[in-house]
Amino acid sequence: ETTPVAIIGAGPAGLLLSWALREAGIDSIVVENRSQDYVLARIRAGVLEQGSVEYLTRLGLGDRLKAEGMEHDGIYLQYGGQRHRINFNELIGRTVTVYGQQQVVKDLVAAHENAGSTIYYEAADVAVHDLESPTPSVTFVHAGEKHMVAADFVVGADGFHGICRASIPADEITLFDRSYPYAWLGILADVAPSTDELIYALHDDGFAMHSMRSPEVSRLYLQVDPSDDIARWSDERIWEALQTRLGVPGWTLTEGKITDKSITPMRSFVASTLAHGNLFLVGDAGHIVPPTGAKGLNSAISDVTQLAEALTAHYRQDDSLLGRYSETALARQWRVQQFSRWMTDMLHRSPGDRQADLFDYRSQVGQLDYVTHSPLAQRMLAEQYTGLQL
Ligand code: FAD
Ligand code: DHB
Repeated sequence: ETTPVAIIGAGPAGLLLSWALREAGIDSIVVENRSQDYVLARIRAGVLEQGSVEYLTRLGLGDRLKAEGMEHDGIYLQYGGQRHRINFNELIGRTVTVYGQQQVVKDLVAAHENAGSTIYYEAADVAVHDLESPTPSVTFVHAGEKHMVAADFVVGADGFHGICRASIPADEITLFDRSYPYAWLGILADVAPSTDELIYALHDDGFAMHSMRSPEVSRLYLQVDPSDDIARWSDERIWEALQTRLGVPGWTLTEGKITDKSITPMRSFVASTLAHGNLFLVGDAGHIVPPTGAKGLNSAISDVTQLAEALTAHYRQDDSLLGRYSETALARQWRVQQFSRWMTDMLHRSPGDRQADLFDYRSQVGQLDYVTHSPLAQRMLAEQYTGLQL
């Protein structure tokens, strides 16, 4: 078995790269260790940058996105019991669209199925070989049969815990990371959103956010301790905390049936290189951001945009983009890292002694006061939140 490009991982990054290559007339295969049902059921990110929407649309994946995605002109920043609107569209003429990662993946899976793409789900013992040679390969076991796929390129779209980044020799890669003393408890609830746009709130008790998935489904998050156990959070306790942290006078948070709840740890992470021989990394395999800036999925899409273009150029006898892929993707990623960390630090309460941390809290409020009142600071937020155009 041979293919030009062997892609490991059928998350949004892997499925989108395979689709973008197909649109450019380049064949690929995707190897995924989970089942298709599992991949489709994973609930994660919810906000698409304008550039992500444009890219998906350009690739013919925009129909349901246009019909069901909710375009938002801005967000609300809340602190000190007051809610402030930042209108990106008014500030810089750009918007974001609320459309779940789950929906993006669903559209990709359907498109691939229609096109008859080769995607091996539930592949076991996935391994990559000879990455430094002109003939790298991938081996795996699928439906009890051993496969050996020879390729020109192997792409690691296998997420943070995947095998591809780990296959780069330790002396050729440095891992930069930062952990946070908090995590997010996220819920999905069968209730109409109580807000027209996303609310990011800093409260004395900690961060809270109100997002959504559709006119009937709300998505909400609470800052919790990273060692906290979801079993300790009854539905009542979750709603009570959300009411406290999101409440402002004259506004009501409507509660509903919680259909999913989980706690996600937070980290910042960047690999020093996204390329090794004929292996390239895209998405979470190469970098992770804390979720506050809504950049995880968008970064994966940005990597794919660049790598698809570079691989397409390669098959037209131009290797210059491929040679620069790691450098250009990481240059954008470090800017995104900075933004995500900035948003995270601005909006989360440091744990521990409340009195001792009052300086931090007051200066966070000062920063939010600045951001919500300075037109320049608002433009800076708008430019980064709606997506850097690099
Ligand atoms: P993934 O979606 O992780 O896909 C990687 C794929 O590779 C998976 O399907 C995996 O099963 C597969 N794989 C792994 N190992 C192997 C192997 N050895 N062989 C074959 N296949 C393999 N971002 C936000 O912006 N907002 C959020 O609210 C948000 N919430 C999140 C919640 C959770 C629990 C997580 C984990 C992430 C969240 N993110 C969020 C981040 C965002 O979802 C990711 O940035 C995005 O999924 C990256 O896409 P990806 O395709 O690179 O990686
Ligand atoms: C969502 C997640 C985020 O991390 C964010 O910043 C905004 C929205 C969401 O899941 O809807």
